[in-house]
Amino acid sequence: MSRHAARGGVTSSIGIVGALLLSACGDGEPPSDPSAADPSAVAAERGLSDAEVRKILRLSPLGAVPADPTNRVADDPRAAWLGQSLFFDARLSGNGEVSCATCHDPAKEFADGREVAFGIAEGTRNTPTVLDAARSRWLTWDGRADSLWSQALQPIERPHEMDGTRVGVARVIAADPALSAAYQKVFGPLPDADVIASLPARARPVPEDPTHPDAVAWESIDPPVRHEVEVVFANAGKALAAYQRRLRAGEGDFDRFARGLREGDRAGIDAIPPEAIAGARLFVGRAGCIQCHGGPTFSDGEFHSIGMPPRGGGLPRDPGRYLGTEILLADRFNAAGEFSDDRLGAEATMTARVARSPEQWGQFRTPGLRQVARTAPYMHAGQMPDLESVVRFYSTLEGAVQLDHHQETVLAPLGLSEEEIRALVAFLETLAGPGPEEGLKGPPRHAMPEDADFSASGPRG
Ligand code: HEC
Ligand code: HEC
Repeated sequence: MSRHAARGGVTSSIGIVGALLLSACGDGEPPSDPSAADPSAVAAERGLSDAEVRKILRLSPLGAVPADPTNRVADDPRAAWLGQSLFFDARLSGNGEVSCATCHDPAKEFADGREVAFGIAEGTRNTPTVLDAARSRWLTWDGRADSLWSQALQPIERPHEMDGTRVGVARVIAADPALSAAYQKVFGPLPDADVIASLPARARPVPEDPTHPDAVAWESIDPPVRHEVEVVFANAGKALAAYQRRLRAGEGDFDRFARGLREGDRAGIDAIPPEAIAGARLFVGRAGCIQCHGGPTFSDGEFHSIGMPPRGGGLPRDPGRYLGTEILLADRFNAAGEFSDDRLGAEATMTARVARSPEQWGQFRTPGLRQVARTAPYMHAGQMPDLESVVRFYSTLEGAVQLDHHQETVLAPLGLSEEEIRALVAFLETLAGPGPEEGLKGPPRHAMPEDADFSASGPRG
């Protein structure tokens, strides 16, 4: 499959073509039901037309995780080991109590079950799951990061999330024998131990406030040493990304259903109940959900305003993509920046093409829906408590906010019946997969793998 297949953004159409090609090849496996009949006749028995089947088949299978050339260790199992250690390590935070897993909790589908995140303090956005995040061209609700590794650096330093600093991260890695050994195997030598130990306990740039103590401490460090610290910081992000690339939702009942449709296998089709099949028809049909939630991740990877009213009421205050674009373009750790391993590649080009425009105000990235039944509450600020509320919102658009400028006019109230609301919810509930293997749901239980053999344990689809 092409390396951008199944990613959104500029390449979303390629993703769909890729999925179609894959479905046409059928993985080369023989149909699982030896008595399999003509797929289109079997689908018709369940009330599905050929056109509906074609649209449904674009949503499955999920396919391989796209490569990330901006991170040369993206698929190195040793880097994933280091990243897994860091993901669960609260020492990266300012108060030593918050890790990535505080908010991306393996017991909660790598989300937190809260309306808005709470790390050091309460934030303003809902925590998305990181399962399958490696498939997104743009990360977070507002697209402020263009790679999994650059995204990982942001929560570490954000005051209300982890309130750590890049110097703090370098110190933690250098002072811990297991982490520093792993780091050096993957990335080569760490900066001189005495130099690291002599640095202030916390220091980071704070562009919005140069008088901030962290910023003053950062300015006091020699520029070449600052650079060495930032290399360690970027590498920590690359290791965290290598780990997160292994966190996949996996195949759910819906995928078994889709395979059944493809192969004319009745047992496969029956993996989801008739009510959910009715929901699937609405999803790809009259309800228009696939306009935005299309492709195997159930997201176009793009940004839209659906008029979701703000948390707590009142006028919308969250600028969404409008601010996300500014942060992305200013980020020295973006795909085109000095720490990227592919500064002139496709990712960098896509980022360079991003421009700020007024209609981005109040737009949020279409979230993928694969694990959606397990990641309530919903929307960028957790405004919706359950799936039924979400579908009711699309049905009536009650409370929807109208932004002054260039508002998209794609959404009209759907006027769904109670039965149709239940059907769409039943469909959304079939998407969830089993999630990652147990060994990935906590700090590593085994020593670091000895070599960088990608084939042995590298990512699969
Ligand atoms: C305080 C809670 C909190 C902590 C700690 C935290 N995150 Fe997040 N994470 C969030 C929230 C909230 C978002 C959405 C941010 C936004 O849109 O502004 C997010 C977004 C993400 C995303 C993007 C997912 C997507 O679909 O776009 C990834 C990946 C991620 N976090 C990984 C991490 C990693 C790695 C760490 C540790 C270095 C971490 N997070 C620490 C709350 C947290
Ligand atoms: C115009 C594009 C668009 C269409 C059409 C659309 N959605 Fe969405 N959907 C979005 C965006 C954007 C969000 C996030 C909005 C926000 O947080 O402000 C979202 C959020 C959601 C969520 C919450 C997911 C989460 O993790 O928080 C669900 C569930 C959902 N949509 C289901 C549907 C269903 C079902 C339909 C069809 C009835 C549909 N969507 C139609 C763009 C769309």
